[in-house]
Amino acid sequence: MRINRILRTKPFGHELEIKGWVRTRRDSKTVSFIEINDGSCLENLQVVIDPGIPGFDSVAREINTGCAVTVHGVARKSPARGQEMEVEASSIALTGGCDPAAYPLQKKRHSLEFLRTISHLRPRSNVIGAVTRIRSRLSFAVHRFFHERGFCQVHTPVITANDCEGAGEIFRVAAADGGDFFGRPAGLTVSGQLEAEAYALALGRVYTFGPTFRAENSHTSRHLAEFWMIEPEMAFCDLEEDIDLAEEFLKYLILYAFDNCSADLALFSRFVDKGLEKRLRRVLEHDFARITYTEAVELLQKSGRSFEFPAEWGMGLQSEHERHLCEEVFNAPVVVTGYPADIKPFYMRRNDDGKTVAAMDVLFPGIGEIAGGSQREERPERLEAVMRERGMDPAAYQWYLDLRRFGSAPHAGFGVGFERLLLFVTGMKNVRDVIPFPRTPGHI
Ligand code: 4AD
Ligand code: MG
Repeated sequence: MRINRILRTKPFGHELEIKGWVRTRRDSKTVSFIEINDGSCLENLQVVIDPGIPGFDSVAREINTGCAVTVHGVARKSPARGQEMEVEASSIALTGGCDPAAYPLQKKRHSLEFLRTISHLRPRSNVIGAVTRIRSRLSFAVHRFFHERGFCQVHTPVITANDCEGAGEIFRVAAADGGDFFGRPAGLTVSGQLEAEAYALALGRVYTFGPTFRAENSHTSRHLAEFWMIEPEMAFCDLEEDIDLAEEFLKYLILYAFDNCSADLALFSRFVDKGLEKRLRRVLEHDFARITYTEAVELLQKSGRSFEFPAEWGMGLQSEHERHLCEEVFNAPVVVTGYPADIKPFYMRRNDDGKTVAAMDVLFPGIGEIAGGSQREERPERLEAVMRERGMDPAAYQWYLDLRRFGSAPHAGFGVGFERLLLFVTGMKNVRDVIPFPRTPGHI
């Protein structure tokens, strides 16, 4: 039985089989104690071994931190403090040895930086194990949220000829022989949005959740070259409804983590970030603040703070600005709307003032931007004019214009960076530590 079930069901007196990895071994005069972890939960199970039991003699010297074992034994109430049960082994077999002199993971706590250098072994550490379980559960919760609300999942392509964000941060895709495989330039997707729009304008409410690639040379704790993005897209939907959904979605995931990942979350509140649970609870209990970009710039200018980059209308908000708004001004997540058209992608709907677009960014304390979205330009002439202004070839995006030509409807959506969400939920500080195998400039 897996350890999470054993700890939950407390099968005192029952014969059990446990398979896992030894975390620690201690020997007293008469017995040996090993702590086994099988990955099903953060907790280890203590096994008490009488040296006389079958199998032990031949492997006794090889039972060390890191080795894989199969144990049979009976669950007993533990006399030790801090644990309710232990297993009294009746037999033990070594499945895979582990040379303690060569094994890089020892009993002590290693730094996250060190763990990154052994990305194939770091899942055996408590912290990365906990991150990985939370990531998996929240991934499931993403699907559950959308399915409960009648959304249809669309598997948008990973290889595409579009540059959705128009930032030119595309990884090119080519066949190894250098041939022109697709007959035109292709790359890895920077966003599934454009394709999701085609499906939203047929199925009404859709979402994509998949790997996303950006060749941006950002060496920050918030950027990855390969990350996972969640992108809902809704027909007959305006910006207000879009923001409402984003707020509901982010709160749902945080609540899901509270309800389903409490033991793993407790590790982060103890060792990573003491204020974590309070911060999570605050987000659940308060409405997100909603302000316009123009108001945001005014607030920043009036703040009296000297930023590295002064806030100025027409410039993008820096993460120092975003964090100031969340952490100092509102002490809550903030949704900023109505950004200048010039600093946002081509597809966003132009507001009546002619200068701004129906964009929204969701900013979180400690993180900055966690989600970005917009109402889309559904008026074909407007959209085509913007494409020409930006030097895009309308012919290459004829299919996208067609969506406006045939049965156009107001529609909107947003994208949440899954790793940034995980930073918020776990209190971890670097996106490299919440994805199994991080890809960043100069590192694969
Ligand atoms: O703001 P972005 O670029 O928006 C889009 O791609 C839209 N097409 C989304 C949509 O409307 N459907 O990216 C969305 C989110 C960001 O807010 C951020 O959380 C995350 O994706 N993100 C990254 N996460 C990790 N590493 C990177 N390099 C990221 N770039 C964006
Ligand atoms: Mg953005």
